[in-house]
Amino acid sequence: MSTSGADVPVIAIDGPGGSGKGTITTRLANHLGWHFLDSGALYRLTALAVMKKQLSLHDETALGEIAANLDIRFETGVGDVRALLDQQDVTERLRSEDTGALASKIATIPAVRAALAGRQRQFRQLPGLVADGRDMGTVIFPDAKLKIFLTASAEIRAERRYKQLKEKGESVNLTRLFREIKARDLRDQSRSIAPLRPAGNAVIIDSTSLSIDEVFAKVVSLV
Ligand code: DC
Repeated sequence: MSTSGADVPVIAIDGPGGSGKGTITTRLANHLGWHFLDSGALYRLTALAVMKKQLSLHDETALGEIAANLDIRFETGVGDVRALLDQQDVTERLRSEDTGALASKIATIPAVRAALAGRQRQFRQLPGLVADGRDMGTVIFPDAKLKIFLTASAEIRAERRYKQLKEKGESVNLTRLFREIKARDLRDQSRSIAPLRPAGNAVIIDSTSLSIDEVFAKVVSLV
């Protein structure tokens, strides 16, 4: 029996940054006992590798090669997942706003997307996969059994991120965060390849006025 491929069920959870899809994906994967894929982490790891090598964003061939040859590993610890790039723990840097912004820029490059597509599909393993990203339901797993598009207003997403960063003791500016979120949304939505948009058969959930528990309950009822 094959352990990956079309016989393995996938639930795709797409949406803009800060919509809560990371939390929902992890909770749902734990609830079902399925694997999970944080596809944004692959773009973020590529961004870190690009920074490390100081590559120009115009050198598309080199960027594609970097994405194809990433030396990465995810380690599941107690309550979190650590990300390793070239055997170094980069978990904290992975989540920074700068890394997210660069990830969004390199995600517009077709060679990078093509290199990461195969890696993402390798996560499709029995008993099933919950995949979080921008194009899980539209491009990477178009045959997903359930597609959810989780969204929320840019204002509330900026506020949520602001609280998270404050709790971590970082100095943050809400207006700047809001501007960065809007810029990233625009870039993710307007790129010509695999833009952020709901799949035709996706269920759209707006979490602007919902708690994470309420969103989770909705998602579980759909599953
Ligand atoms: O979900 P995230 O914030 O970690 O993603 C970071 C960036 O990576 C996002 O702004 C766009 C890109 N990305 C993408 O283009 N396709 C995906 N499936 C996931 C992320």
